Amino acid sequence: MSSPVLPAAVASLFPAPDERRRIEDWLTGELVAALARLQAGPVTPTIDIASFRAELQTDDFSRPRALEDVLRWTIERMEHGIVQMTNPRYFGLFNPGATFPAQCADRITSLFNPQLASSASSPVPVELESHVIRAIGRRAGLTGAITGHFATGGSEANYTALLCALTASHPAFGSEGVRVFAGPVKFYTSRECHIAWLKIAHQAGLGRAALRLVDTDGRGRLDPQALERMIAADRASGAVPLMVVATAGTTGGGMIDPLQSCADIAQSERLWYHIDAAWGGGALASRRLRPLLAGIERADSMTIDAHKWLATTMGCAMFITTHGPVLSEAFHASTSFMPSSVAAVDPYLNTVQWSRRFLGLRLYLALATAGWEGLGAHVERAVEVIDRIKERLVTAGWSVANDSGLAVLDVVPPAELGEVRALVRRVVSSGRAWVAPVNFEGRDVVRICATNGETSDRDVVELVAVLNGR
Ligand SMILES: Cc1ncc(COP(=O)(O)O)c(C=O)c1O
Repeated sequence: MSSPVLPAAVASLFPAPDERRRIEDWLTGELVAALARLQAGPVTPTIDIASFRAELQTDDFSRPRALEDVLRWTIERMEHGIVQMTNPRYFGLFNPGATFPAQCADRITSLFNPQLASSASSPVPVELESHVIRAIGRRAGLTGAITGHFATGGSEANYTALLCALTASHPAFGSEGVRVFAGPVKFYTSRECHIAWLKIAHQAGLGRAALRLVDTDGRGRLDPQALERMIAADRASGAVPLMVVATAGTTGGGMIDPLQSCADIAQSERLWYHIDAAWGGGALASRRLRPLLAGIERADSMTIDAHKWLATTMGCAMFITTHGPVLSEAFHASTSFMPSSVAAVDPYLNTVQWSRRFLGLRLYLALATAGWEGLGAHVERAVEVIDRIKERLVTAGWSVANDSGLAVLDVVPPAELGEVRALVRRVVSSGRAWVAPVNFEGRDVVRICATNGETSDRDVVELVAVLNGR
């Protein structure tokens, strides 16, 4: 016979309120102290990963440990076990040091743990996310009914664009798949695109050969004439062109494809026009930089990652479109167990995901506290950081390979500093700064991106010194 009352909740998983508060307060203090150490310490991991693996081998979860001990252990291992995006001398791959409001959002979301699949389960979060999506869409100059959603990353948002393009281009695609097309489907983006497009073509079932990489103009931007020629050749050979993708802020060089020319071609060829502004879309926040994105308002859809230049915590992309019905057509589903089923509203009926985290709060809190002006100042500050680095490097004999206007600098060292990849290895292993080697327009360059909103003049001087072998 079972006991008359239920056993108590497992205390290690659900501590009593006093204990919870005690640990939360302690954790907050630990994290603030860790942040100060991270910002002053090495950018690169210092942990011996073989020892760490051996340490994990000894842990078979048979002996529970006190939460504080495990938290202290985790912070210590994180402090030595990752490339530190929070360090102001991380000049890296678009990964930001997260804003404090975005971090607060994660804390709130963790407590409430809302399920954002359905508007009935999470009416406030669903409205709030839509509000932010519409605000960003308006900022981009979209008109009409702006819709979209927060996604896990630029890759998911770009995948969504491809599914929308497929869905819009044939009424039977949803039921019959690609066999409805008269030939192999192709979509177009430049050689400098983010190469996740290959995985996207693969997972959509088109095959990687569906991605057509268009030549660039020698400056890292898609060449519109090459695009026209490629589309014409594909049509002539019986292929079915589907979508043009322009990149606003290429991963390698921060370059912006000719958005107007790409829009003209997509329009005259009757193709879906998507702009991958995963990183460069952040420039919309700045009145001064916004003109660089002229033409973005002509997109059928766009990707903007708030977890890049807008510095939310990781996994916070946006897919924005004015074709709500296509989105709803692409992701419709029907089941008896969901608490709501509202075609143009419920996220599970309009996105790749079903269960969804409350991602949009991160950007909402940043926008609400900094306003467009503050977010714009954050974005412009990154360009200023890059300008200062550029000036110092050019004076020291480096040459500049790109002319982005945004916050990525591709540079070639003077001959006496040796070849790029060895130089970058030396910089990264010093732990004093983090930069990347990339191949830009056929040559290796050192890629420097201002990703941290707290980089100071001292950090700039330190980066330039280590690059110059001092
Ligand atoms: C231009 C561009 N598009 C897409 C992506 C992929 O985004 P995510 O890493 O958020 O999936 C990136 C990532 O750096 C990018 O630079």
